[in-house]
Formats: sequence, C-alpha cells, structure tokens
Amino acid sequence: MADAKQTTKKLAQRIDLNYFKQPHPFRRWRFWLSVIAPIAAVLWIGSYEIAGNDRVYSAGEMSASHRVLGTKCGACHVKVVGGFSAKASDEACLSCHDGPIHHANQTFTPHCSSCHKEHLGRVQLAATSNASCAQCHSNLQTNGAATKFVRDITTFNGGHPEFAALRPGASDPGTIKLNHAIHMKRNLLGPHGPVQLDCDDCHQPAISSAVLHFGSAHQQSAAPPAMQKSDLPLLVAQQAYMAPATYARHCADCHGLQFDKRFTEGVPHDTPEVIHAFLAQRFQTYIASHPSELREASPMEGLPQKARPAQVRILTPSQWAAEHVDEAEQLLWRKTCKQCHTLSFSAGDGLPAVAKSNITTRWFPHADFNHEKHQMLRCVECHPGGLASQETADILIPDIQTCQQCHNTSSNSAESRCFECHTYHDWTKINEVKGRTTLPSLRGGQ
Ligand code: HEC
Ligand code: HEC
Ligand code: HEC
Ligand code: HEC
Ligand code: HEC
Ligand code: HEC
Ligand code: HEC
Ligand code: HEC
Ligand code: HEC
Ligand code: HEC
Repeated sequence: MADAKQTTKKLAQRIDLNYFKQPHPFRRWRFWLSVIAPIAAVLWIGSYEIAGNDRVYSAGEMSASHRVLGTKCGACHVKVVGGFSAKASDEACLSCHDGPIHHANQTFTPHCSSCHKEHLGRVQLAATSNASCAQCHSNLQTNGAATKFVRDITTFNGGHPEFAALRPGASDPGTIKLNHAIHMKRNLLGPHGPVQLDCDDCHQPAISSAVLHFGSAHQQSAAPPAMQKSDLPLLVAQQAYMAPATYARHCADCHGLQFDKRFTEGVPHDTPEVIHAFLAQRFQTYIASHPSELREASPMEGLPQKARPAQVRILTPSQWAAEHVDEAEQLLWRKTCKQCHTLSFSAGDGLPAVAKSNITTRWFPHADFNHEKHQMLRCVECHPGGLASQETADILIPDIQTCQQCHNTSSNSAESRCFECHTYHDWTKINEVKGRTTLPSLRGGQ
C-alpha cells in the first residue's frame, strides 16, 4: 500500500528544478559526443577518400563477380560533384565485357542495369528476373516481319508454350532405321551370345569415358560426328548433348558387312563408290592368287533359267571379278545396307545413293539443355519411348510437363526463371574487349 502522507506536491518538491545547471558526467558525455561523432565521421570518410576507397557511399554489397570492384565505384558510376551518379552507364559495363544484342529486330534495347541488378549482395548477376524478359515477351513485337515465335510468355509454368519439336506436325528427319523396342528386349543376340543392351551402349556425349561394347575394334577410334551449332561453349556442348549413334562405334559388332564367304572381313562402312572400288580390288587380288577358280565358276543363282551360263565356264580374271563384285553388291544393296538405310537406285545400273542420316543433335535450337546436369535421373524418366518405340519417325524427346515436374515455382524445385534454359545475348556477335584496368588502380581503388 502507498504511504498516505506522500502526496503529489510533496513528491514534486523533491525535484531540483536547476538540475541542468549543475555539471554531471552524463551531460558532459553528451556534449563531447555531439562534437566528436561528426568529426569522427568526417575523418572516417576522409580516410577512405585519401585511400581512394569509395565504399562508404555504397548502396549495398556487390555481386559475387564484381566484389573485386567493391572500392572502385568509378568503374560503373560517373563521378559528379558531391559523389557519384546514381545511374550506371552501359558504356561503363561494356568497357570491361561485352553484352551483345539479343535480336537485331528488337524494338528497343534495355539498359544493362535494368536486368543485371547490382548492390543486392553476393547474387549471380546473370540470374535475371522473369520480368526482364516479359517486358518484351509478354507481347512480343518486332521491327519488321511478324515473329514466328509464340508472343505471350511470362513464366515457365504459366503460359510457356509446348516445345516446337513436340507440337503437332513436327517430325524426326532421321533416316537410319532403328527399332528401339527390338534392341532393348532381353536376350538380344549379341556377337558372343545373348545380351541386354543399355541406352548408353548407343548414346553417349561426344566427350565421354563410357566403354563402347559393340563398336568394331578397328573402327572405334573413329571420332564422333561434329556437333550442330550451339550457344554453349564447345567443350560444354560436347558433354551436354548426346552425339549421334554411328555404325562404327555402336552397331558394327552385331551388324557385320560381310559380302562373300571367301573373306572373313566385311566391306568398309562407306559410300557405295568406295565399297565398289574395295570389292573390285579384293576380287581381282583373290583371283590372281586362285586362278583355278576361273574354271569352276558355277551358275549364278537367282537368274532366269535360260540366262544361266553353262555349267563350266572359263572366265577371264576381270570377267570373274566383275561378276563377283556384282553378286556381292546385290547382297549388300538389297539386304545388308537396306536394313538400316534407304537407298535409291537411278535408272541403269549405276551405284545406289544412300540417304543422308540426318540424326538430330539439337532438338531445341532456341534453348539449352544439359544431360550431365540431369544424370541423377534414369534415361527413361525423360525418354520412356526409348523402350517402346518401333519407328525412327517416333519423337522420343520429353514434353514440357516432364520439365515442369522439377522446374517450377514451388519452394522445393529447380530454377524456373527464363535464364536457366535460354541465353539472352547473341554470343556469336561478341566484341573483343581490350583490358584497360591496371592492377594498382584496382587494388588501390583509384
Ligand atoms: C559493377 C558496377 C558497379 C560498381 C563497381 C558500383 N556500382 Fe553502384 N550501382 C550499379 C548499378 C548497376 C546500380 C543501379 C542503378 C542503375 O539503374 O543504373 C547502382 C546503384 C547505385 C546507387 C543508387 C542506389 C539506388 O537505390 O538508386 C548508389 C548510391 C551506388 N550505386 C553507389 C555505389 C558506390 C558508392 C560504389 C562503390 C563502393 C558503387 N556503387 C559501385 C553498379 C555499380
Ligand atoms: C572494371 C570492370 C567491370 C565493369 C565496369 C563491369 N564489370 Fe561485370 N564483370 C567484371 C568481371 C571481372 C567479371 C567476372 C568475370 C566474367 O564473368 O567476365 C564480371 C562479370 C559480370 C557478369 C557475369 C557474372 C554473374 O554474376 O552473372 C555480368 C552479368 C556482368 N559482369 C554485368 C555487368 C554490368 C551490367 C556492368 C555495368 C553496370 C558491369 N558488369 C560492369 C568486370 C566488370
Ligand atoms: C533483358 C535483360 C538483359 C539485358 C538488358 C542485358 N543482359 Fe546481360 N545477361 C542477361 C541474361 C539472362 C544473361 C545470362 C544468359 C546469357 O548468357 O545470355 C546475361 C549474361 C551476361 C553476362 C555474363 C556472361 C557469362 O559469362 O556468364 C555478361 C557479362 C552480361 N550479360 C553483360 C551485359 C551487358 C554489358 C549488358 C548491357 C550492354 C547486358 N548484359 C544487358 C540478361 C540481360
Ligand atoms: C527488348 C525486347 C526483348 C527482351 C527484353 C527479350 N527479348 Fe527475347 N526476343 C525478342 C525479339 C524481338 C525476338 C526475335 C523474334 C523474331 O525474330 O521473330 C526474341 C526471341 C527470343 C527467343 C527465340 C529466339 C532465340 O533467340 O532463340 C527466345 C528463346 C527469347 N527471345 C528469350 C528471351 C529471354 C530469356 C529474355 C530475358 C532474359 C528475353 N528474350 C528478353 C525481344 C526481346
Ligand atoms: C542399338 C542402339 C540403341 C540403343 C540401345 C538405344 N538407342 Fe536411342 N537411338 C538409336 C539410334 C540409331 C537413334 C537415331 C534414330 C532415331 O531417331 O530413332 C536413336 C535415337 C534416340 C533418341 C532421339 C531421337 C528421337 O527419335 O526422338 C532418343 C531420345 C533415344 N534414342 C533414347 C534412347 C533411350 C532412352 C534408350 C534406352 C532406353 C535408347 N535410346 C537405346 C540407337 C539406340
Ligand atoms: C546396322 C546398321 C547399318 C548398316 C547395316 C549400314 N549402315 Fe551405313 N550408317 C549407319 C549409321 C548409324 C550411320 C550414321 C552415322 C555414321 O555411322 O557415320 C550410317 C551412315 C552411312 C553413310 C553416311 C550417310 C550420310 O549421312 O551422309 C553412308 C554413305 C553409309 N552409312 C553407307 C552404308 C552402306 C553402303 C552400307 C552397306 C554396305 C551401310 N551403310 C550399312 C548404320 C548402318
Ligand atoms: C548387341 C547387338 C546389336 C547391336 C549393338 C545393334 N543391333 Fe541391330 N539388331 C540386332 C539383332 C540381334 C537384330 C535382329 C532382331 C530380331 O529380329 O529379333 C537387330 C535388328 C536390327 C534392325 C532390323 C529391325 C527390324 O525392325 O527388324 C535394324 C534396322 C538394326 N538392328 C539397326 C541397328 C543399328 C542402326 C544399330 C547401331 C546404332 C544396331 N542395330 C545395333 C543386334 C544388335
Ligand atoms: C531430364 C530429362 C532427361 C534425361 C534424364 C535424359 N534426357 Fe536425353 N534429352 C532430354 C532433352 C530435353 C533432349 C533434347 C535436347 C536438345 O537436343 O536440345 C534430349 C535429347 C536426347 C537425345 C538426342 C540427342 C541430343 O542430345 O539432343 C538422345 C540420344 C538422348 N537424349 C538420350 C538420353 C540418354 C541415353 C539418357 C540417359 C543417360 C538421357 N537422354 C537422359 C532430356 C533428358
Ligand atoms: C526449364 C527450361 C525453360 C525455361 C525456364 C524457360 N524456357 Fe522457354 N523454352 C524452353 C525450351 C526447351 C523451348 C523450345 C526451344 C526450341 O524449340 O528450340 C523453349 C522455347 C521458348 C521460346 C520459343 C517459342 C516458340 O514459339 O517456339 C520462347 C520465346 C521462350 N521459350 C521464352 C521463354 C521465356 C520468356 C521464359 C521465362 C518466362 C522461358 N522461356 C523459360 C525451355 C525453357
Ligand atoms: C528430376 C528433376 C528435373 C527434371 C525432370 C528436369 N530438370 Fe532440369 N535441372 C534439375 C536440377 C536439379 C538442375 C540444377 C542442376 C545444377 O545446377 O547443377 C537442373 C538444371 C537444368 C538446366 C541448367 C543446366 C546448366 O547447365 O546449368 C537446364 C537448362 C534444365 N535443367 C532444363 C531442363 C529441361 C528442358 C527439362 C525437361 C526436358 C528438365 N530440365 C527436367 C532438375 C530437373
């Protein structure tokens, strides 16, 4: 309970109304602080100024790649009276590295810093927002002819169109016949008995340490075919995409090119012209060392009865060779090569033409993909058709829903902003930049 005699008036009389006239340690401190703090601040800023370090004016921590410029504000900001301009000029950015244009037919060119936001901490500058792309792609306009691309794209999970390679009407231009279902079945006949093939027996990136189980020994060193155009650096692209299957590396051991029982070797896997010359040479050399066979030439099967030559004929070596070349070629063109290729025969008895193989290595020419970054998945998660497809014409490439299962905006997901899959700058148009910064100026901050 409160003391009854302790009234408000009595309490008030206890306060010394002249307290501020008397010295007191706290009040002294307050005075000196108000003098020292500004002086210290000026000295602090001054010391940075003397050292040529402008970090004190900074709007925030620099991005990871630009941290080395953390004290060199003038590299991006123009110095103006009383500090720096708040804008960073495109010319400043371009003096250290190029940022080539996106498309010549774009209606305007945004400033570098509108996409690459600085002073936000240790971020990756290239990780630009969807909005930086949607400013044009939400309603795509071009200078000149109307665009062939879908015009309203704002997010990957909202309005992004199905990939062009999977839209109705798209086709596989490849001509090599391959039945995936037959080759993936159990107990397929291999060179030394039954085998179970795996996808990587036929599909590896160009740079790969995978062992080739069914390539022919003498042709295995054959390099994989060259890559199609890619925005990725060549070395990355050679690990990111699957190189086309080749006969020498992936088919040879199971599909020999034998042409005659007199020889164990097969013809080289080459053009009909090369094979024709090879056969002529082999049969001529053979008959020269086996002249007795000239007398034993037996009737050629398959010819109509009346066209059959006499039982025993005596041929000249060149007649003999020509007939055997012809016989071997009938077998190769009509059966062996035809198993995998489409051959076209011109009128007359010229050599056939083999259709170009046209195996696609870039199904998405306008986006990047990297198999190496997805090696945690089984191939058939993205390519279920690899087990079931019977026709080369089938398109086995995954659709957009497959990607959206992981690349979406939920918190437990892979990146889904545009830059993850697309490049903005056309790096084929890059300008070389001549270095201008000196080490002392960078480290000294001048
Ligand atoms: C690598 C280039 C770069 C360097 C180096 C750099 N900045 Fe910036 N700064 C930017 C960009 C980009 C912006 C965004 C402004 C714009 O749109 O142009 C910016 C903005 C700013 C702003 C305005 C902030 C706002 O919210 O409007 C200030 C202040 C600033 N910088 C100070 C500094 C100081 C001080 C330094 C040196 C310590 C520095 N900057 C170094 C690129 C840079
Ligand atoms: C004084 C030189 C210098 C200036 C000025 C400069 N940069 Fe850089 N920038 C670098 C260096 C060094 C790297 C790291 C090496 C590389 O990637 O080329 C880098 C990397 C980058 C990257 C890729 C790295 C990442 O985090 O994604 C982007 C994007 C970039 N700079 C944009 C800009 C922009 C935009 C400006 C202008 C506001 C600018 N730079 C000004 C030197 C500079
Ligand atoms: C519309 C947004 C946008 C604009 C504007 C833009 N960039 Fe970029 N920039 C990107 C994206 C997205 C990437 C990552 C993909 C790529 O390489 O194209 C990137 C990548 C870069 C890189 C990094 C390359 C690397 O090594 O990873 C540099 C450097 C760069 N930009 C510089 C510039 C410069 C300089 C400008 C201005 C002349 C500029 N950018 C304008 C979006 C933009
Ligand atoms: C200044 C406007 C503008 C901005 C910003 C812009 N684009 Fe484009 N984009 C275009 C134009 C114009 C085309 C070409 C259309 C044509 O030729 O038919 C295009 C084409 C494309 C294409 C298809 C052709 C190709 O290059 O492969 C892709 C993919 C693309 N843009 C992605 C992006 C991404 C990702 C961003 C953001 C980092 C972006 N764009 C930002 C205007 C823009
Ligand atoms: C015996 C060799 C062989 C095996 C084993 C094989 N492939 Fe193929 N694959 C090919 C050949 C040859 C082509 C090119 C012809 C074509 O387009 O069908 C091809 C094409 C492809 C293509 C791309 C072109 C398209 O048609 O869409 C994909 C994707 C593919 N295979 C996935 C697989 C997967 C997944 C497996 C394992 C389940 C597999 N392949 C097993 C030989 C093989
Ligand atoms: C087991 C399947 C198979 C057989 C049998 C086969 N090839 Fe091929 N051939 C291929 C594959 C796969 C390619 C694509 C890449 C490569 O190996 O260079 C190809 C490519 C070719 C090419 C190059 C086509 C182009 O794109 O320009 C020619 C020419 C060719 N083969 C000729 C022949 C001839 C002639 C025969 C018969 C003697 C034959 N091939 C037998 C699988 C086969
Ligand atoms: C492990 C051995 C093996 C390898 C490697 C192999 N094949 Fe075969 N392939 C076979 C066998 C066995 C058959 C016959 C299967 C059957 O008819 O049941 C066959 C059949 C085929 C057929 C005819 C299929 C049909 O529809 O009847 C084609 C075309 C073919 N292979 C192409 C290729 C190509 C192209 C490659 C290389 C990219 C290849 N094969 C690699 C063993 C192999
Ligand atoms: C995350 C999904 C994914 C997985 C897992 C995957 N692929 Fe692919 N694959 C793709 C996409 C997307 C493409 C089309 C890329 C392009 O050409 O632009 C492709 C293309 C291919 C092609 C055609 C050539 C090329 O690179 O474009 C072959 C062959 C292929 N994949 C085989 C395989 C094999 C074999 C595996 C397992 C080792 C595998 N893929 C795993 C998504 C996947
Ligand atoms: C997970 C990967 C991924 C992301 C994220 C992504 N895209 Fe795509 N995008 C693709 C693929 C794959 C294609 C097919 C490319 C082709 O057909 O060559 C494509 C095609 C396109 C095209 C061409 C459309 C057409 O009509 O053929 C444009 C434009 C485009 N994307 C813009 C964007 C924009 C803008 C964003 C961000 C809002 C974005 N993409 C995000 C993978 C992606
Ligand atoms: C199982 C989930 C999963 C699926 C399905 C998936 N991705 Fe990815 N993807 C990832 C992860 C995780 C990363 C990040 C890998 C890293 O940065 O090392 C990634 C990275 C990427 C990258 C960047 C590669 C690089 O070089 O950094 C691209 C492009 C991409 N994915 C495209 C696709 C496309 C297109 C599809 C559909 C055909 C797809 N992804 C399907 C999980 C997935």
